Amino acid sequence: MKKSKKKVLFIILFLIVIIAGYLYWQNNSIEVSYYNFSDTSIPAEFDDYKIVQVSDLHNKDFKNQLTEKAENERPDIIVVTGDVIDRNRTDIPIAVEALEDLIEIAPVYFVTGNHEVASGVYDDLKIEMDRIGVINLDNAHDTIRINEAELGLIGIEDPLLLLLEDVEAAGSADVLLHQNIEQLYEDVDTDYTMLMSHRAELMDIYSETPVDLVLTGHAHGGQIRLPLIEGVFSPSQGFFPQYTNGVYEQRETHMVVSRGLGNSIFPFRINNRPELVVIILESE
Ligand SMILES: [Fe+2]
Repeated sequence: MKKSKKKVLFIILFLIVIIAGYLYWQNNSIEVSYYNFSDTSIPAEFDDYKIVQVSDLHNKDFKNQLTEKAENERPDIIVVTGDVIDRNRTDIPIAVEALEDLIEIAPVYFVTGNHEVASGVYDDLKIEMDRIGVINLDNAHDTIRINEAELGLIGIEDPLLLLLEDVEAAGSADVLLHQNIEQLYEDVDTDYTMLMSHRAELMDIYSETPVDLVLTGHAHGGQIRLPLIEGVFSPSQGFFPQYTNGVYEQRETHMVVSRGLGNSIFPFRINNRPELVVIILESE
């Protein structure tokens, strides 16, 4: 082989190694994002209250990395906003082991994502989650108390679980979702209320309710993130999606969109590392 050919081959191999290393790092190294929310309706007892959000694991096994990152934050609660398994990867023990590790750190709340519904194994997964003590907030609410002070946490199931007869009775899925959130808000009856919901694209519905803070995922950060354009594609929102990462505000409602941790159809994240979200509440 000629010397110049060898040189070209070496450069190509070198580039392949660099790209492979970059992709591995982009898809396996968890980044922690912090968001602070201050509000006069957050009781003083909940000042500095810390919530870790885990979203869209898609059956990925981060071994100890996820647990260690979550444990470092010393959260008061952990919220899991759907898609712990994937419709094409349904290894329940992997998902349950991750949740079991998180429960050792703090109480874990869960709402379904579209992949639990599509997986065909959600009933089995739910039995396991109930057994280990995951608190299911699918169309349910919980009041978190410190002394006399209260914080409301409500959750809605993924819209794929809505019953056709209920949708028809309400007039549309959007109207039904709005009604469900309003009902849960009234039921929990707290000054500051957070909503757990898988889907970020429903911001218009969330913002028409009195909910203060919504915790969502589903968009996977737009899978590939480019400067200026930001996310390139997300399920349900298509190309150049509106809600992919960080905090959005509409009317009186704030929404956090986690970029999530795993992948679904498209196997790579680019400029979009797996994300663990940390939310810190501040009393004003
Ligand atoms: Fe997802």
